[in-house]
Amino acid sequence: LSEKGSAFAPANIALSKYWGKRNAELNLPATSSLSVSLGDLGTKTEIRVAAEDSVFLNGEAMGSETLFYKRTVDFLKLFPMVGAHFEVRTQNSIPTAAGLASSASGFAALVLALNDLAGWGLGRRMLSLIARLGSGSAARSVYSGFVQWYAGTDDDGSDSYAERIDAEWPELRVGILEVSNVHKPVGSREGMNRTVATSELYNSWPAQADADLEAIRLSIREKDFPMLGKTAEHNALSMHATMLAAWPPLIYLQPESLEIIHTVQRLRGEGLELFLTIDAGPNIKLLFLESVASDVIAAFPDLRIIQPFG
Ligand code: DP6
Repeated sequence: LSEKGSAFAPANIALSKYWGKRNAELNLPATSSLSVSLGDLGTKTEIRVAAEDSVFLNGEAMGSETLFYKRTVDFLKLFPMVGAHFEVRTQNSIPTAAGLASSASGFAALVLALNDLAGWGLGRRMLSLIARLGSGSAARSVYSGFVQWYAGTDDDGSDSYAERIDAEWPELRVGILEVSNVHKPVGSREGMNRTVATSELYNSWPAQADADLEAIRLSIREKDFPMLGKTAEHNALSMHATMLAAWPPLIYLQPESLEIIHTVQRLRGEGLELFLTIDAGPNIKLLFLESVASDVIAAFPDLRIIQPFG
């Protein structure tokens, strides 16, 4: 056991989404998913064994009533062999409001930091599996680059972990457009459970998710950007269709989100190779190649551009 464990994990954006679980307690997904990690944007975490639990987010002590505190401390209770109580210091390099500094990089960094603290020396596959227990998408954030998380078939989740896809795409860009959200959104945990339980459209989701994942793998292998962009956008909007068909309906998109979706369609009609993806919130993530970056910035001056491959 070291005095302190520390680690960094990147945020990730799914190109073929994880939406729906086959086991809610173990975060076992209904389908496999595929993401790209966001380079040096993510979470840095330090952890120590302590006399009592404390959780800091960006330097600020979190109250024990906050969701962030509860999820962190509850997760750490899975590891009594390391310590009964911990001091956890989390630093996000993305504004929390962007809806990206989320549970994925957070739980991945926490597990990597625990591995460092306890001297477990575990491989990435096992670290991914453990991070999954904190939050499903965290299984993907223990890697950089393109990552696939396998749904697996075992009841105990021992074959549901993520692996890095052996491919680079240095020209790929992800652009983040923050959309203001006046309403407190329903979290993805509750949102996906409600969708599975009440949305008739969800019945068609697993087959589409499988087909989309294969198309995205192929597009990465062949460096076919239009195929990657089209499949990712179609996948995200299909996920939102399953959400809209839930009851009570899950409407994450805000008027500004729709405006951006229409602008992207118009620009595509004018020949620009620009696509988008959306998660369980109002923000839009644009997908494009470096060669058209100036055209995209001209249309969206507030865009925050990320280079997943450095
Ligand atoms: C829409 O990983 O946050 O971002 O496993 O319940 O913690 P839990 O859910 P979470 O869900 C992410 C959903 C998504 C799609 C994705 O990242 O694949």
